Amino acid sequence: MIKKETIEKVLDAARIEEVVGDFVDLKKRGTSLIGNCPFHNEKTPSFHVSVAKGIYKCFGCGAGGDALKFVMELEKYSYPEAIRYLADKYSIPVEEVERSPAQLAAQDKRESLYVLSTWAGKYFKEQLWDTESGQSIALSYFKERGYREDIIQKFDLGYSPDQWTALVDMAVEKGFHKDYLKEIGLAIERDDASLYDRFRGRVIFPIHNLTGRVIGFGGRTLKTEKTIPKYVNSPESDIYHKSDVLYGLHFAKKAIKDNDMCYLVEGYADVLSMHQAGVENVVSSSGTSLTSGQIRLISRFTNNVVILYDGDAAGIKASLRGTDMLLEEGLNVKVLLFPDGNDPDSYVQTYGSTAFKEYIAKHQEDFIFYKTNILLKDTGGDPIRRAEVIREVVESIALIPDEIKVSVFIQQCSHLLDIEERVLLTELNKIRVQKAKAQDKKIQQASRTLNDTPPEDMPPADLFLTDIERVQDVSSGEETPQTITSDTLQEREIVRILLNYGEELAVWEGDGDVPIVPLLLNALDDIAFEDRASAFIVDTFRRKAEYFEIPDTKYFFSHEDKEVQDLAITCVATPYELSPNWNDEKRKIYVRQEREHLRELTMQAIYRIKKRKVEKEMIKIREELKVTSTDDMEILLAKYQKLKEAEKVLGNFLGNIVVK
Ligand code: CTP
Ligand code: MN
Repeated sequence: MIKKETIEKVLDAARIEEVVGDFVDLKKRGTSLIGNCPFHNEKTPSFHVSVAKGIYKCFGCGAGGDALKFVMELEKYSYPEAIRYLADKYSIPVEEVERSPAQLAAQDKRESLYVLSTWAGKYFKEQLWDTESGQSIALSYFKERGYREDIIQKFDLGYSPDQWTALVDMAVEKGFHKDYLKEIGLAIERDDASLYDRFRGRVIFPIHNLTGRVIGFGGRTLKTEKTIPKYVNSPESDIYHKSDVLYGLHFAKKAIKDNDMCYLVEGYADVLSMHQAGVENVVSSSGTSLTSGQIRLISRFTNNVVILYDGDAAGIKASLRGTDMLLEEGLNVKVLLFPDGNDPDSYVQTYGSTAFKEYIAKHQEDFIFYKTNILLKDTGGDPIRRAEVIREVVESIALIPDEIKVSVFIQQCSHLLDIEERVLLTELNKIRVQKAKAQDKKIQQASRTLNDTPPEDMPPADLFLTDIERVQDVSSGEETPQTITSDTLQEREIVRILLNYGEELAVWEGDGDVPIVPLLLNALDDIAFEDRASAFIVDTFRRKAEYFEIPDTKYFFSHEDKEVQDLAITCVATPYELSPNWNDEKRKIYVRQEREHLRELTMQAIYRIKKRKVEKEMIKIREELKVTSTDDMEILLAKYQKLKEAEKVLGNFLGNIVVK
């Protein structure tokens, strides 16, 4: 276990913009930084980072939290994994509390898999550099292929000796669990339950995740027999989700951001050679077709992709496949083919870095035009084939979400295809109508399922909007927000005021200033909060208030109770401060308004809750009146009368609040 002091140091040091900035390209907007959300697919950024508050919040998918939560969610780290990652980032030594053997045994499984995987990476690397067979067989192979030592080092390349159990034996000797060796696929189990090495006799390409941890391996055979698979790869495991990994991204992410462009290649070898040539913004899909997870990964860093393919027939086919998803995601896709069956690797190795860079600078072509030309070549003047080509090209164009780009492509393809723009537009509309119909069907089906099971825990879009904000929203022509009826939301409004304005004063004409926290706490002394997270936060404020203190909001941000954490973050990352729909001027005006009317804001919140409580009491009495004896009737009626008066007063008060 990590010592408490270390955790505190790490949480203190972690700066949200730095931690998030390693994964998301952030741009300044007003007081926040914004970027494309890494937790869902999006084309326009709705992911906000507040440096002052130390939190992130996505208004698209609702993800939110502090720096620690960010790495936990994104990298699927456990709490200790995330602390270790941040400690490493900020060079804070991790101090451990001594652990009992039982605790050790119960250690997080994923952490163990990471440890094993890291160890195996080191083992392969040592086999390559420090053993005779490694040097004579594997290192010399890499060198013959033209890789420099610094590149071999940088990518942690390795060698798995040509023996059945070399790694298994060593791992078991080191105390690694056999189940884990199997789980991450370093070993394969025989029928008699004994294990043997998966990668024996192969050179090793470790696969790193975004943070640089080794999560899997690709092993290339050194033999030339066609019967032997050229590559053997690690299987899916708890730490290796293939559809969310791109080979080389860890080494490429900075260059991708800097160049605002990403080269996409097919193989490990291509990535290495391009780095060696000085082109570092390159990732590989490792021979499989792209997944949406991988596309999302790329779009975190750039919207521009150039696909590099072999110039042979298979390469051309491949270049036409798999691009649809990229277009749909709004990425700008270019294609580049290499001549004479070369791949990027062989081109670099044959012609050198300078020629390679010149070649890729000159031969990029917009995917749509590329596709048009390729398909046109095959038609041979056949009019039916031509009609097919037109349809196929327009189908690709129809995927592009950006209207301006669509019209540019339509225009230019009309030249290429020598066909009137109008014809292409008609085709485009036909395709769109078909798609819209299909989409409608999907939505209908979805809403049917939604209606069957109302999503109770789905907060309305205007979760914490007060009347003041609603007025603002309507006047700004945005969608009319839903009305809030739930008690929970009233309670959460109290929490929002406590967290945002706890330290402020409510200005009282005449009586002077009253601090918000005691004002709220005293007024709500008789109210039991029903919402668990709200109750907890209010209670924490109460306990602190006994010592005239106010809890630090950060305490709630990284609270172990996820509900408390989410509530605090949603409250502090208030929509009017961070919403992309609010421009800076509007936001400033709003925040100033709310600050200037803290008394009204607070009183309104208090009276609303009280009114609700009174109403509930009244309902209860009405129910009781139905079944009560005449004796009690009078008492109940008197009570009811009192409540009714109270309700009137509260109602009048709420009605009288002037919303400025
Ligand atoms: N691949 C694989 N299994 C295979 C063949 C290929 O997993 N049996 C994957 C590898 O990730 C490989 C990529 O597909 O890097 C591209 O395949 P290929 O072009 O054949 O490999 P290269 O990377 O060019 O390897 P080399 O240059 O060493 O032949
Ligand atoms: Mn190759």
